[in-house]
Amino acid sequence: MVAEMVHHVLTQVDAYLARVPAGAVEQALHAIRRCVLVSRTSYGPAPARMEYALTDLGRSLRDQLTRSDSGPSACPDKFRRVNKDRVNKDKRLDSVAGYAEAAEMLAEQYESVTFAEVHREVLHVFPARPSRVLDVGAGSGRDAAALAALGHTVVAAEPTAELRALGERLHADQAVEWVDDALPDLARLREEERLFDLVLLTAVWMHLDEQERAAAMPNLVSLLAPGGRVVLSLRHGPVPDGRRMFAVSAQETIRLARTHGLDLIHLAERVDPHGRRDVSWTYLALQMPARTQLADLVL
Ligand SMILES: C[S@@+](CC[C@H](N)C(=O)[O-])C[C@H]1O[C@@H](n2cnc3c(N)ncnc32)[C@H](O)[C@@H]1O
Repeated sequence: MVAEMVHHVLTQVDAYLARVPAGAVEQALHAIRRCVLVSRTSYGPAPARMEYALTDLGRSLRDQLTRSDSGPSACPDKFRRVNKDRVNKDKRLDSVAGYAEAAEMLAEQYESVTFAEVHREVLHVFPARPSRVLDVGAGSGRDAAALAALGHTVVAAEPTAELRALGERLHADQAVEWVDDALPDLARLREEERLFDLVLLTAVWMHLDEQERAAAMPNLVSLLAPGGRVVLSLRHGPVPDGRRMFAVSAQETIRLARTHGLDLIHLAERVDPHGRRDVSWTYLALQMPARTQLADLVL
């Protein structure tokens, strides 16, 4: 009888949790951490395990919070640790909008899945031998660090200073070179005339508008060594609040890539590795044929 009741309750909890969007629990924890009510200890590096605990202030307010109807988003202003300078005064969002403010929470989310799981559809197109890899929009460095651990020489380009700092700290054990550079220009890397065998853009390309994408593609191509590959993913689904994304199709990306000499070598669709039901992904692997580079040299 007791077992049946327990089973019934667990089934109900399970059904309820299935309706909670993935990421909602992390967001709620992040909101209460901003109030300095909860502390977090991270055991990492990847996949990172986090433990949360009430701070002294959190414990002292526990009774009041329990009685209150308001959720974590109703954090009293005096407890908020918000850097007002960070608020985007320009109403038009740019491609990095929303990342600096939420860097810690996002890094936790990115590190909660493995490189192998995120890239399972394209692992076979990654170089088997130690190669030069550029991870553009590297975020917290999950992929850059995993690729460095596989023996590649990795540059992580990340324009959001907060994510760059977190990535450097979380993956200090891997020899990743972090640079502050951004699409569409990738000015610093191009100025240094760097060449890469693999350029990775995971969950980045759809942050650029059409003009930026058109400008970025030839710049990416100019960083490719002969026979080099670009692997990029496109996110489909609702745009998170405060961020800027565009609906970018595989077909338009393949067309744009072809215009600049890249061939499609692999296309895959997949569900979201974080389990968000309304989000799905396209993965594209594109390659600069070695013969095109040779022809360029002859000319
Ligand atoms: C969804 S996150 C993905 C992070 C990482 N690639 C991953 O898969 O975990 C998107 C990243 O793109 C970066 N980003 C946004 N605009 C960018 C741009 N114009 N050039 C390069 N990176 C950009 C953001 O700062 C952020 O780190």
